[in-house]
This record gives sequence, C-alpha cells and structure tokens, in this order.
Amino acid sequence: MELDDCIKGRRSVRRFEDKPVPKEVVDELLEAGVSAPSGMNAKPWRFVVIENRDVIQRLSKMTKEVLLKGQWPDNLKESFKSERDVIFYGAPLLILMCVPKKDEWRTINLLDCGLAAENIFLKAYQEGLGSCFIGFANFLNQNPKQLAEVGVPEDHELIAPMIFGYPAEKPAPKSHEIKILNWIK
Ligand SMILES: Cc1cc2nc3c(=O)[nH]c(=O)nc-3n(C[C@H](O)[C@H](O)[C@H](O)COP(=O)(O)O)c2cc1C
Repeated sequence: MELDDCIKGRRSVRRFEDKPVPKEVVDELLEAGVSAPSGMNAKPWRFVVIENRDVIQRLSKMTKEVLLKGQWPDNLKESFKSERDVIFYGAPLLILMCVPKKDEWRTINLLDCGLAAENIFLKAYQEGLGSCFIGFANFLNQNPKQLAEVGVPEDHELIAPMIFGYPAEKPAPKSHEIKILNWIK
C-alpha cells in the first residue's frame, strides 16, 4: 500500500471480527513502533501486549470504575456504568505503550510515544487491521497496582493504550481542515 493511501485511509475502528491477530503481525507492529524517531534517541517506549480477552475485559472494567469517579456528561457516565466493553470495544489485541516515569523527560516521552503510536497505526492499516488509540485507558495510571498486575511496573506510566483487530467496520476516509495561522514568504 502506498504511504499516502495509508495516511489518508486510516480511521479509528471500534468493531472487530472474532479473529486473533497472528504473532508475526504483532511483531511487525512493534517493529514499526520502535522505528519512530525519539528525542536523544532514547527510545523510552516499553510494551505490554495483551491477547487474552479475559484480561482485556478486566482492564476495561477497571477503567470504567476509575472513570466513574470523575465528572462526565450523562451519556458517557451511563455508558461507563454498562456491562459492555465501551473502552476496548471487544478488540482481540491490546498493546500498552509505557515509559519509565521521569518528570523532566515527560514531554519528550509523550511525543516519542505519539510518533511510535502513529507508526504502529499506519502499519496496522497496511496489514489490514483496524486500530484505535484508547485515551480513556490512561486513567488506569491512577491505579499503578492494577497496571502492575498486567506487567506495567509501578515506576512506569501508561502513555498509549492501543487496540487492534480485523475490522468489522470500514469507516470512510475523511477530509480535514488545514488551519494555518500564518505563512510568511
Ligand atoms: C490521544 C487520543 C486519545 C483517544 N482516545 C480515545 C478513546 O478513549 N476512545 C475512543 O473510542 N477513541 C479514542 N481516540 C480516537 C479519536 O476519537 C479519533 O482518532 C478521532 O475521532 C479521529 O478519527 P479517526 O482516527 O478515525 O481519524 C483517541 C485518539 C487519540 C489521538
């Protein structure tokens, strides 16, 4: 697939087929992620790969419990109360991209992870997978002990929770506004 088709065709996917993602494909995703540039070439990202649906469901439940402690519009609050997996959408693969907690490097670490995440999403799209960034799951950082249970050390922070699977929906490409503040010639 041409890079341009990949960049413009990728959309967030929230419905998946009941089909696992092969190990070789997961390896390709991670390879794409770690090929991203990073500040001082620090490559701060660490990954937890979760293919076990029970574990993904447990994390979904934990995320909803944390979210329900916050202030949300009624419709979101209702969805967080439901038994449905409104967090990871029943995806068969969850990858948690984490970094060691180092306050002075946090901004750079965030940027590094964002770049790596987009590499992974584009590679996923090229491989015929659907994907979505799940920022709601970042609220799990409020419970480091629960994250530790799935392998995120307590001195690490979860930055990019990402879901993947073979898509059961194909959102159409969108057009995007380009907001230029100034263009000096
Ligand atoms: C940092 C970040 C956090 C996001 N968090 C969520 C989320 O928690 N749940 C969700 O369904 N989508 C989430 N998304 C997906 C966005 O809603 C989506 O990227 C946006 O609507 C644009 O749509 P597109 O990805 O199809 O182009 C997140 C995206 C980003 C970049």
